[in-house]
Amino acid sequence: MNFRHFALSLATLALTVPALADDHELTLDLKKRGAPVPETLYGIFFEDINFAADGGLYAEKVMNRSFEYPLDALQGWKAFGKVSVREDGPFERNPHYVRLENPGHPHKWTGLENSGWFGIGVEKGAEYRFSVWARVPEGGSSSIRVELVNSASMGENHFLCQDTVTVNGAEWKKYSVTITPDATMEKSALRIFLVSERNTVDLEHVSLFPVDTWMGHENGLRKDLAQALYDLHPGVFRFPGGCIVEGTDLATRYQWKNSIGPVENRPLNENRWEYTFPHRFYPDYYQSYGLGFYEFFQLSEEIGAQPLPILSVGLACQFQNDESVPNPHVPVEELEPYIQDALDLIEFANGGAQTTWGAVRAQMGHPEPFGLKYIGIGNEQWDSLYPEHLEPFVKAIRKAHPEIKIVGSSGPDSEGPQFEYLWPEMKRLGADLVDEHFYRPYNWFLSQGARYDSYSRKGPKVFAGEYACHAKGKKWNHFYASLLEAAFMTGIERNADVVEMATYAPLFAHVEGWQWRPDLIWYNNLESFRTVSWHVQQLYGKYRGTTTATLTMDGKPVTGADGQDGLFASAVRDGDLIYVKVVNTSDKDTTVELGFNGLKKRQTVKTCKVVRLTSEELYVDNSLEAPARIVPVECELPGEGREFTLEVPALSFNIFILSRN
Ligand code: AHR
Repeated sequence: MNFRHFALSLATLALTVPALADDHELTLDLKKRGAPVPETLYGIFFEDINFAADGGLYAEKVMNRSFEYPLDALQGWKAFGKVSVREDGPFERNPHYVRLENPGHPHKWTGLENSGWFGIGVEKGAEYRFSVWARVPEGGSSSIRVELVNSASMGENHFLCQDTVTVNGAEWKKYSVTITPDATMEKSALRIFLVSERNTVDLEHVSLFPVDTWMGHENGLRKDLAQALYDLHPGVFRFPGGCIVEGTDLATRYQWKNSIGPVENRPLNENRWEYTFPHRFYPDYYQSYGLGFYEFFQLSEEIGAQPLPILSVGLACQFQNDESVPNPHVPVEELEPYIQDALDLIEFANGGAQTTWGAVRAQMGHPEPFGLKYIGIGNEQWDSLYPEHLEPFVKAIRKAHPEIKIVGSSGPDSEGPQFEYLWPEMKRLGADLVDEHFYRPYNWFLSQGARYDSYSRKGPKVFAGEYACHAKGKKWNHFYASLLEAAFMTGIERNADVVEMATYAPLFAHVEGWQWRPDLIWYNNLESFRTVSWHVQQLYGKYRGTTTATLTMDGKPVTGADGQDGLFASAVRDGDLIYVKVVNTSDKDTTVELGFNGLKKRQTVKTCKVVRLTSEELYVDNSLEAPARIVPVECELPGEGREFTLEVPALSFNIFILSRN
């Protein structure tokens, strides 16, 4: 580019770099009409792994609140005095409850203590709603004292707050009281004493929620974590996984019908992430289903994302079921109940309030349909087993609901024999989208900038349903991995005509309870932080645009190919605004000369600002202690012209925001 109307000089963002690479010339085509960018393009993958639901997003503080843990009904509880477990409670699918009786001596006490997941985190001055189903079996009244305690306290007493609940009569009733701790504690405990006359009392479904949940729902979600989802500008919300959809065996697959209706009667399920990795083993990890399909749909709506439920195809996890396990899967001819589950789910989401499942939704508080458009059948399945099982689902869903798009799977690998086999199979079966998964190392991400450029535009669309850069030997969150994800995503954006959705995975991780990393959002019982990968996803979501725009370097897409010096780039338009994303994966500062095709004579373009994500250190991320260590920085970039020189520092992700005059 010979003639520069503007040479824009940006303060280089704290990077010491040895040399300046050669300039690069990028051309943005403003004449050619691009493809629409699907609203679903950037989204969220939710799975209850790393204590993402119970102990994470689901704001319940009491573990094993219904006394249903299978080996020990009191798992998670410390009982003292005279406590017994009984099993003829008021909730059919959760029959256990506890009986608290007079300890038999005026100086003894009966009661229970629960420490939640890794302790119960509470904030000074915040309100917590304690609730319990209770009765006095002999009639009359009795009372319990409820406390939040710090048992490690050196003070005169343990409690941070306390209140009394009086229980009346022999009928089961729900009681609740709001308590407010006078100190912030990451690891408090809930203690319950039988008090007053110490008449026998029965307790069931003992629960403690912050009053201030996301959107104020009583069966609510942790506000900071739900907010972190909302702030991503997600277009799609996939749930409930992941492998959890399949189950280690079919009995423990995720069953959506068990996850709806009154929370007290949602049966407990085993969580496969309890034991998947014996080197990170969590014997307390179960799914209460308190965060269930109704809550998933509701959350999708509240964060503005299309819901994307994934259901079992009748195959238990194929990783966990080799030839040594007899008959792990449902024979094809016995799939009917599984297929019916899928059809019923569509009715639950979209049916009128007069339909069987629509009525359940309406009764739960959402008479309006949720507007489900997509359903996924099967997660990481492979071999001929998968198409054989998928086919009857496709036929039944097509027949009953031709309006619903079906997502099939290409297996667990990003390429290779299963991938090569399953893609054509998905095409043959008429899947609308194919789910691809890739947890892959640096080199893979650096080599895949052009992955989707050659995909057929005639077949199913792509759902990049699980991906993250997993560095060999550096399997934790760090800036460099996130930068490579940003680089790879330019290829998603450029190919938004064939990629309809992409969701990073996994989403959440408790710092004391993770099985898998990297993850997008981390937390302890009180605080959370957003990783650099979160910021990458957020920037793509925020600057998604509405149509793609062709951006080339020497006539070629900018994919990090040989001779492109580690540059990846793409562009989208949004009305008059143009978002040009440039990722420099090399360790050299560079500049790009940005010119335009299709500008009319005298027509100019304005530069507005640049949003830049970079870091001096490669292998670090944000943390609970330093949540904003690496965050995007915005710089005003005022200018107007027909060509621009833009600085692109080494190892940086840049979004240049321009506007067409
Ligand atoms: O995201 C973690 C796991 O990775 C998912 O459950 C599974 O689908 C994939 O193997």
